[in-house]
Parts: sequence; C-alpha cells; structure tokens
Amino acid sequence: MLALTVTPRVPKSIRLVEVSEPLKENGPVLVKTLSVGICGTDFEIVDGKYGEAPPHQRHLILGHEAIGEILEAPSKSPLSPGDLVTGIVRHPDPVPCSNCEVGEWDMCQNGLYTEHGIKGRDGFCSERYRCTPDLLIPVSPKLRRVGALVETTSVLAKAWEHIERIGSRARWKPSKVLITGAGPVGMMAALLGVQRGLEVHVYNRSSNSPKPELVQSLGAYFHTGSLQDICPDADIVIECTGVGQMVFDVMKMVALNGIVCLAGVSSRGRKLEIDFQSLNRTLVLDNNVIFGSVNANRRHYKFAVEALLKADIEWLERVITRRLPISQWQAAFDERPLGDIKTVLDFLL
Ligand code: BGC
Repeated sequence: MLALTVTPRVPKSIRLVEVSEPLKENGPVLVKTLSVGICGTDFEIVDGKYGEAPPHQRHLILGHEAIGEILEAPSKSPLSPGDLVTGIVRHPDPVPCSNCEVGEWDMCQNGLYTEHGIKGRDGFCSERYRCTPDLLIPVSPKLRRVGALVETTSVLAKAWEHIERIGSRARWKPSKVLITGAGPVGMMAALLGVQRGLEVHVYNRSSNSPKPELVQSLGAYFHTGSLQDICPDADIVIECTGVGQMVFDVMKMVALNGIVCLAGVSSRGRKLEIDFQSLNRTLVLDNNVIFGSVNANRRHYKFAVEALLKADIEWLERVITRRLPISQWQAAFDERPLGDIKTVLDFLL
C-alpha cells in the first residue's frame, strides 16, 4: 500500500512509497484512511527537526490528524465495518506511569509514550492502518469531510478543560478571551470559546486571508495591528502562535486572576531579552497562571467530536482551505499559500 514516509532527522526525506500492509500485531481493527490533515508538527518532522521512527525501522509513516473508515473489526468490539473513526495520537507508555495507567496519557509522567506519525509509532498517512479499539474514536458520518479536524479540536478541548480546572481555584466568572493566532489551533480555540458563551477576540498578524471572515462568522472579533490595543483585560488568553515576543506580550496583558494557556509549540533557537523581574512581579500580584498544554486523551477526543457536531459544518469546511489528493502531497509541503489555514490530503485512490 502507499504511505507518506520520512526518515526522521533527515531533512527532505519525505516520499510517497509502497510499504507493507499494516501488521496484525498493531491491533484487530483495520481502518481505511480517508483524509489526513497537515500541521506545523509535520512540517518540523519533514524539516528533520523532530520525530522518531518506530523501533527497528528507519522510516516513519507521517500523519496524526486523520479520519478513516473501518474495514474490519472484531465482532465483540463496539466498532463495525463502515464506521468512521479518528485514531488517538498518543499511546500510553508501557510502564505505565500513574497518569497513563488511568488513561491520562496526555499527562504522561515519564515521557515514554509513543505518538502516531510523530514519536516511535507509524502515523495514519497510509492507505490502511491497524489499531486497537480503545485508541479509536467513533466519528459521526456528518463529519466525514471535516473529520481531520477532530485531532486539533481535541488538543483545544484539553486546553479548555485545564483552563476551567485552574479557574475553579476561586470564584471566577470569565467573560473575555483573547486568542493569538488564527491558524487551525486558534480557530478551534475560538470555536470552543464561542460555544461556552464567552466574548472571543482573535488576534492575527495579517488580515489578508479568509481568517477575519471566518472569525466574524463564528460571532467572535478579529483583530490585527498592535496587540497592546486590543482586549487588554482578557480573563483567558490562549496563545497559539508559539512566537516568543507574542508569548511574552500576552503574559503581561491578562486580567487580574487571569489564565494564560500556551498552546503553540515554538521552534527552538530565538533569543529574547525580557525584564523577567517585572513580569514575575505582575504575575504574583495579579494571581496569574501561565501553563502549557499539549495532546489529548480519550475524553478530550469525545468532547471534540461533540463540539464539531454542534458547529456549522460549512464553517468547518471553510477552515480546510486546501484539499489535495494524496498524489499531490508535494504541494502540501511546499511554501504555504497566503491565507492557508488547514491543508488536508485525501486518499481517493
Ligand atoms: C499534536 C499533539 C502532539 C504534539 C507533540 C502536535 O502536533 O497535535 O497530539 O502531542 O504535536 O508531539
């Protein structure tokens, strides 16, 4: 079968190649891949900066945001042929640690977890893959064309859950949310904020794209220009760019008792000169919390599917700005067109 592979840590080693059929030992459920979303992590892997092949294998099959259709499932499992599913990215570590033991692998304590298409486990960007039923999430047929967005949404469902848990340390009635970055992560953060009835402000460096219209049609406010002038009193900030200066700026902007969730993975190597003492003073005197959030467990995937079902499907379709057949995978990894939000590769073979 065809699969999109890389040799991790070897830049530009990405290829669409024939690989062997998925191993039975990976699980009794056989899934036919329909679409796979591409994200910043895939770009980092393709650039040779991230990623790890499965043990005893040189290549890694890419892809961790996928929707697929079940071809085979054990008769006793809750899944049946024809059902749509998303594969959960992270698998618990084998020890297991105290979090993985209870299904909270997104908070793995020892770092020995594996991640499909990222760390030590083949991804979903192949014609077929195999998995165990517990690491597959049923997806409604209504989400067939947008199911590749479930994974990104699950990451934000976790971020929102943790924001709310931190918020419950005192009486707290947040009203304003600032989201920096209107890429797929920012869009899904905004969707979940609007669904909570909050006033959502989305900041993006440029406005030359479908982003302003997409944000406004959600019922949120789109901003560009100087970050300082917009929403200086947000109760919640979800930082989705990972850009150092932006990360620093939002930490200073959040309201009293406010919470900043860092959801954007930065590339390494940029140095910033910052007045850390003043920042610390503000954080302490304002009871602020800054925390990072990554990945998602089964509960978050379920929330994500529910949230997408509540959303306007046509809006979700517009967040997917490019759909390419798998044969055109190269275009997906070339320079991204201006205004691109989410590129999806379709397996229409
Ligand atoms: C994925 C997460 C993953 C993270 C780090 C992100 O792109 O969405 O599920 O944990 O990369 O590998």
